[in-house]
Amino acid sequence: MIGTRQVFAGTDALARGAAETITGFLAEALRKDSTASLVLSGGRTPRNVYAQMESGPLRGRLDWSRLHLFWGDERCVPPSSPESNYGMARETLLARVPVPPENVHRIEGEIEPRTAAAAYEQEIRTVFSLKDGELPVFTVLLLGLGGDGHTASLFPGTAALAERRRLVIDVHAPAVPADRITLTLPVINNARHILFLVEGKEKAAIVRRVTGDPRAGFPAQLVVPGSGTLTWLLESGAASALPQS
Ligand code: 6PG
Repeated sequence: MIGTRQVFAGTDALARGAAETITGFLAEALRKDSTASLVLSGGRTPRNVYAQMESGPLRGRLDWSRLHLFWGDERCVPPSSPESNYGMARETLLARVPVPPENVHRIEGEIEPRTAAAAYEQEIRTVFSLKDGELPVFTVLLLGLGGDGHTASLFPGTAALAERRRLVIDVHAPAVPADRITLTLPVINNARHILFLVEGKEKAAIVRRVTGDPRAGFPAQLVVPGSGTLTWLLESGAASALPQS
């Protein structure tokens, strides 16, 4: 298994543990640098994590005004759509923490996908002052895991998996909604701390295959950090098919 794993007894424990881990990495970065960056993931799993980050003991541990927020992927829908990853984060986190609006770098799901991808890539280049060929170093990058082994919007058998030049691409996914925008693997693998957040017994089989069978060829297995760390934060049901370590 690449990286390390932590298993939490239930979804609330996963949310608290993940929020603690994320906050710890960000607080550590803010002790050394003037800003830090967090790439949010989509889907259902992170909802409770975001809620935990903005409340309770963790809230006071971060100077949210020095954080930059990004998304690992977005569905091509307006922010008002229940499918919007930005919309979910706005509801569970953004509306409750003092991140300056100019530090919230959402993907414009409501515009034409190719244009949205290019605009998001340009925003990343600007925020990180990237020269041609350079990659951003996100402080913390969250990922989920789909039942087919996809992560972000990098799905099995798609050309997106081979993209090595662009930072952001538009994809037509075998999922609903199909049109999506996603960070590419070189960007994901360049992050300082990559965290997979997975919950639910229905994910147990894919977690076992992705973490235990290196030849399986799932997109999530292409997440191999360059010089950063990779941690699997698993709810006990999602970890239930793993060999007992
Ligand atoms: C998305 C996500 C996607 C998600 C996984 C897991 O936009 O859907 O980026 O990669 O993280 O599909 O989703 P759940 O947390 O809902 O199981």
